Amino acid sequence: MKKIFSGIQPSGSVTLGNYIGAMKQFVDLQNDYHCYFCIVDQHSITVPQDKVQLRKNIRSLAALYLAVGIDPSKSTLFIQSEVPAHAQAGWMLQCVAYIGELERMTQYKDKSTGKEAVAAGLLTYPPLMAADILLYKTDLVPVGEDQKQHIELTRDLAERFNKKYNDIFTIPEPRIPKDGARVMSLVDPTKKMSKSDPNQKSFITLLDDPKQIVKKIKSAVTDSEGIVKFDKESKPGISNLLSIYSVLTNKTISELEVEYEGKGYGDFKSDLAEVVVNTLAPIQERYYQIIESEELDRILDEGAERANAVASKMLKKMENAMGLGRKRK
Ligand code: TYM
Repeated sequence: MKKIFSGIQPSGSVTLGNYIGAMKQFVDLQNDYHCYFCIVDQHSITVPQDKVQLRKNIRSLAALYLAVGIDPSKSTLFIQSEVPAHAQAGWMLQCVAYIGELERMTQYKDKSTGKEAVAAGLLTYPPLMAADILLYKTDLVPVGEDQKQHIELTRDLAERFNKKYNDIFTIPEPRIPKDGARVMSLVDPTKKMSKSDPNQKSFITLLDDPKQIVKKIKSAVTDSEGIVKFDKESKPGISNLLSIYSVLTNKTISELEVEYEGKGYGDFKSDLAEVVVNTLAPIQERYYQIIESEELDRILDEGAERANAVASKMLKKMENAMGLGRKRK
């Protein structure tokens, strides 16, 4: 069976963008692939975090993975910091990566520009991500559009390592969904929907209640034309809403355009709000059953054990390839 690895940072509430761009795919893929899904808490400390809130976010993200449909009997779900090989392999890959290529990462540029003190970890974040992926002989990495550059760097680092030391890494491919790979902000539809956006109205979280969802969608920025039509360039707001509607209902954009011909944005937005509320209701119900359960801890313990067994083997191979420590099996 081919292998899949993907991760989400526990750095705030999980958004509809994370769900559509990443989690929704995970659920569909777990029947056909050997899957590893990770709560990448070490990535989240590249920017300041409140320790109490971080612990909460880690547990909440774990519960959400399960609530959206990750099945622990099919997939391995675990927390990055509970598998030490990630940080160890991350260090080794930092020594393979060049500063210049890390400085070229758009996410690094976005997060560091204009900041006075930037943690070194923000720059060396991609080699840790590469370690996550390469430790599991990953074939495919399902992610949203914004992670594509990081996967390309992962491929470069793997190829460089294979050539320089020993041919041990599988070269992974990104898997970016055809639709919904870049869900945009509801306030500024030219920007990506992001959990770190200070404006709460710009994103919908998987735990928003129906009232909040209706309010956020009703106030989503559109245009003054009043025609429900997909046109990313001149109608980015309504196009974003159409994409969300389409992905969540499996109706095509053209079907939706026909359905809303002659109707205004008001009708369209209330129907979309209903679609989002109905999508999230069963997820939220499962979430609240899981979040305080001992079962969640059992699943995470088991996940860490399984991940550790696989990751430590690859780590050993890396150490042997680079000549670290003493040769052992
Ligand atoms: P993160 O935590 O920012 O996002 C998690 C996943 O959600 C996708 N995503 C989106 N998709 C569509 N529209 C959006 N507005 C949107 N916002 C986020 C992201 O593309 C991602 O798939 N570096 C990663 C975490 C990571 C990782 C990994 C991913 C660490 N190690 C190994 C894959 C494999 C990140 O910050 O994702």
